[in-house]
Amino acid sequence: MSKILFATSEVFPLVKTGGLADVSNSLPSALQLLNQDVRVVVPGYPDVIAKLENPMHLCDVDGFLIPEGTRLLESSIPDTNVTLWVVDCPDFYSREGGPYLDSYQQEWPDNAQRFAMFCRVIADIALGHCDTSWQPDIVHCNDWQTGLAPAFISLAENRPATIFTIHNLAYQGNFSKEAFDELLLPYQWWSVDGVEFYHKLSFLKAGVVFSDQVTTVSPSYAQEILSPEFGYGMDGLLRHHQSKLTGVLNGVDYSTWSPSSDTHIKFNYDRESLEEKIKNKLDLQRNMGLKLTKGTPLFGMVCRLVHQKGVDFVVETIKANIDEKIQWVILGSGEEYFENALFELAEQYSEKISFTQGYSESLAHRIEAASDVFVMASRYEPCGLNQIYSLRYGTLPLVRETGGLADTVVQVNEQTLEDRSATGFVFQEASSEGLSEAAQQACNFFRKKKKWRSMQENAMNQDFSWKQSADLYLGLYDLALEGVRSGQMVAE
Ligand code: ADP
Ligand code: GLC
Repeated sequence: MSKILFATSEVFPLVKTGGLADVSNSLPSALQLLNQDVRVVVPGYPDVIAKLENPMHLCDVDGFLIPEGTRLLESSIPDTNVTLWVVDCPDFYSREGGPYLDSYQQEWPDNAQRFAMFCRVIADIALGHCDTSWQPDIVHCNDWQTGLAPAFISLAENRPATIFTIHNLAYQGNFSKEAFDELLLPYQWWSVDGVEFYHKLSFLKAGVVFSDQVTTVSPSYAQEILSPEFGYGMDGLLRHHQSKLTGVLNGVDYSTWSPSSDTHIKFNYDRESLEEKIKNKLDLQRNMGLKLTKGTPLFGMVCRLVHQKGVDFVVETIKANIDEKIQWVILGSGEEYFENALFELAEQYSEKISFTQGYSESLAHRIEAASDVFVMASRYEPCGLNQIYSLRYGTLPLVRETGGLADTVVQVNEQTLEDRSATGFVFQEASSEGLSEAAQQACNFFRKKKKWRSMQENAMNQDFSWKQSADLYLGLYDLALEGVRSGQMVAE
């Protein structure tokens, strides 16, 4: 059994802006089921503190970069028995707005300090400088907000092993040289072998450079980020560290995302009772003011409305196919330009298109259950979770062939229908034409009831539960530990 500190800036259901929160909820549980001793540490944003169940004061935390009065609270991740440690630091976290952006969608001006401090606390726990009476063997850090922690930890002689997971390479936590100076980071880190990245301090680069192992969330994305097209300037660095880079596909939590037990949907169903699925469709059509019809394919989409997700392709595809028999139900929030375009379409074609701006966990579940097709037209997608949820709901994913989408959905053709591996529709070209063509193909198949049903069954048979991926992480933890121990032996 290893002791694992899992460091993350989001965890469902306490704070979530994207899939990182889902992973931070379900991977620690899966590791615990494999008999590991896991603690999760998150920043104490107001939502987190407000939703904690029976929080206990664990210890005060002080030291360099850490404001006075900072403490660690102990609770558990709701509906799990995974221990949660919350960094309660009102100076940095107790404010209205999001975890990274203020109410005007601007980055908090002190983000470098806020997350450097989080990293300092992670490192202090890791190195036994906090009064937690528990010290990890492994520190598993996630995304840029935790990137400086492996760097701090690397300075200690007797240290735990570190592993850093990249959930999205586009978000790098890059700050000015002044921020580097203010944080009083070791001056030798300002170099190509340190945290300097095109004259900026990069938290993500720190995570990559100083961790013993680096992972990303699908095998295809692990390959893609080695190329300039997907590397966001870091492809050279990643190629340099390729020997410690692995792609581990995310799993999903079927206790939250299964149509047979989903508490958000009206009509539960499984493979044997797919006719109940149609009742969810009619119910959602009614609620969203769409025309009530079983025979028109309903395309669903739930996502952050940003460039990454190919929302522009979707808008263009809707326009180009407005005369076709297709309905759309879309939930999301993000860039104003995309929100406005979707509002306009929904207003103009209210029987065909529904757009809900905002964030709703419950509606996301209802869209998964009600839709016939789930669309993810991403330009790049490190893993993507919704297409995996869709499979379990018998809602056939229509996805672009990239990253985790390519690793989880199998394009329908004669061969894959025959061998029962077909689970969805996959298109290559990042364009509205590519998406439009795939949408047409989905509509054609929708009319072939038997084939559709057989694909739904294939999809629902897929198993992306965490066990397998959690096992892979255990292997990487061992590798990281071996590396640290042999390094220490050489030093001795
Ligand atoms: P990303 O992390 O890039 O946003 P993922 O597919 O990994 O993409 O995860 C997105 C998660 O966030 C999913 O659980 C999805 O259902 C959820 N989500 C995204 N936007 C919304 C929204 N507007 N309302 C509810 N859930 C949302
Ligand atoms: C990121 C990625 C997404 C991935 C999620 C969880 O937000 O954009 O593809 O599924 O992290 O790993």
